[in-house]
Amino acid sequence: MRLEGKSALITGSARGIGKAFAEAYVREGATVAIGDINLEAAKKTASEIGAEAYAVKLDVTDLASIEAAVKAVEARTGGLDILINNAALFDLAPIVEISKASYDRLFSVNVAGTLFMMQAVARSMIARGKGGKIINMASQAGRRGEALVGVYCASKAAVISLTQSAGLDLIKHRINVNAIAPGVVDGEHWDHVDSLFAKYENRPKGEKKKLVGEAVPYGRMGTAEDLTGMAVFLASDDAEYIVAQTYNVDGGQWMS
Ligand SMILES: NC(=O)c1ccc[n+]([C@@H]2O[C@H](COP(=O)([O-])OP(=O)(O)OC[C@H]3O[C@@H](n4cnc5c(N)ncnc54)[C@H](O)[C@@H]3O)[C@@H](O)[C@H]2O)c1
Repeated sequence: MRLEGKSALITGSARGIGKAFAEAYVREGATVAIGDINLEAAKKTASEIGAEAYAVKLDVTDLASIEAAVKAVEARTGGLDILINNAALFDLAPIVEISKASYDRLFSVNVAGTLFMMQAVARSMIARGKGGKIINMASQAGRRGEALVGVYCASKAAVISLTQSAGLDLIKHRINVNAIAPGVVDGEHWDHVDSLFAKYENRPKGEKKKLVGEAVPYGRMGTAEDLTGMAVFLASDDAEYIVAQTYNVDGGQWMS
C-alpha cells in the first residue's frame, strides 16, 4: 500500500472523479475526508467507501468553511498529508453572452477555491513540519482556449499557473504541489457539459459526448478510474522530487 497511514482531504469528492480518488486512496491505506458543499452526498459517499472515509462540510469559496474543514481533519487524524483540490464548476457561453455572475461563480470555486485551500492546508502542513503533497485538478481546457468555454478554460489555465507558483514557493517546506490535466471524463459533470453543448450548438442530447469520445486518440472518453493511478503516484513518496508540474492524463489529446 502506497499511502499507508496518510491523512487526505479531497475537495468536491462526494461524486465523480473526487469519489474515485477517495476510493483509490483508501485502497492504498489512507484515511480520507470527503469535503463537499453537498454534505448529504458526502456522507453517503463516505459510508459507501467505509470506515476510512468520513464526510466534512466544505465550501471552498468560504474562508471560514475552509478553516473549519482543515481543523476537523486535524482533530480527527492529527494532521494533513495530502490535499486534492478537485471541486470545480463548469459553464458554457459565447463570449458575447458570458455573464459576470457565471464568471464570478467559476473563478470563486475553480481559482480562489484552489488558492485558499492550498494556503490553509500549507499553513497546517508547515506548522506540523512533515511536508505533504498537494494535487490540483487542472484540465486540457487549461492548455488552450475553446470558442464556447472561455471562462472555464481561463480558470483552468489559472490552476496550472497557481500550481507552478505554489509548487516553487512551498517545496522548501517539502510540500510538493503538482496538477493533473484530464481530457474528457464520463460522468455527471459531462452529462451537464453535453446538455449545454446541445443548447449552444443545436445538437441532440448525447451527440457531443459521442463526438468527443471518438476524437480521443485512445478511442474513448476517460473514466474517473483512468485518473486514479496518477493521483496515487503524485501523493506517494515516489513523487518526492516532482515539483510544480501538470500531467496530462487524457488518452493522448494534448502534448506538452
Ligand atoms: N469530467 C471531466 O471531463 C473533467 C475534465 C477535466 C478536468 N476535470 C476536473 O476534474 C475535477 C472533478 O470533476 P468531476 O467531473 O468529478 O466534477 P463533478 O461536477 O462531478 O463534481 C464536482 C464536485 O464538487 C462539489 N462542489 C461544487 N462546488 C463546491 C464548493 N464550493 N465547495 C466544495 N465542493 C464543491 C460538487 O458538489 C461535486 O460533488 C474538476 O476540477 C474538473 O474541472 C473534469
